[in-house]
Amino acid sequence: MKRIIVGISGASGLPLAVHLLEALKMNPEVETILTVSESAKQTLMLETSISFESLLSKADHYEDVKNIGAAIASGTYPSAGMIIIPCSMKTAAGIANGYSDNLLLRCADVMIKEHRQLILAVRENPLSAIHLENLLKLSRFSNITIMPMILTYYQKPTTIKEMEDHLIGKLLAQFELSYQPFKPWQPNC
Ligand SMILES: Cc1cc2nc3c(=O)[nH]c(=O)nc-3n(C[C@H](O)[C@H](O)[C@H](O)COP(=O)(O)O)c2cc1C
Repeated sequence: MKRIIVGISGASGLPLAVHLLEALKMNPEVETILTVSESAKQTLMLETSISFESLLSKADHYEDVKNIGAAIASGTYPSAGMIIIPCSMKTAAGIANGYSDNLLLRCADVMIKEHRQLILAVRENPLSAIHLENLLKLSRFSNITIMPMILTYYQKPTTIKEMEDHLIGKLLAQFELSYQPFKPWQPNC
């Protein structure tokens, strides 16, 4: 069983978080623990037609972002790692500077100190020098992967879902999890 913590922050791209949780739910080898920032509750309403309760039902467990006493706030709680999707520049700044004033940031801090995998599915455009410096600092940790949610075209997607499938497949591959809709690059396809 792979236990993966999913953090949702308030960057644009909430449908990607929904897509990821649905993909993880299909995998019986994965257990998910979800935490959602206060801003993400707002972007969920703005960008999707999904209720907060419905979002929570897509994860196995949920922890309130204000509950810094949750089990996942401790390094003693075993997990394979954490994905933050979408990852805002504010959350990236918090992680880069060890400023853990909510459960999501504390979990990321724990991943770094325990040398566990931390994937940041970052979203911002354009990126300022401050954003880039924070991301560069984070990218130097061997257990952190910065994965900007940039669309690809070489798999010839015809729908937004197919475009997202590719991003989700790449994210899951970081945990050595396969995702059936993901079509890896094949020359001359
Ligand atoms: C509709 C909407 C879209 C946003 N998109 C982004 C974004 O793509 N990237 C980003 O860094 N912040 C974005 N923000 C701003 C963040 O929500 C804001 O900085 C917030 O404080 C982030 O807090 P959090 O990281 O704790 O979730 C957006 C805000 C709204 C309302």
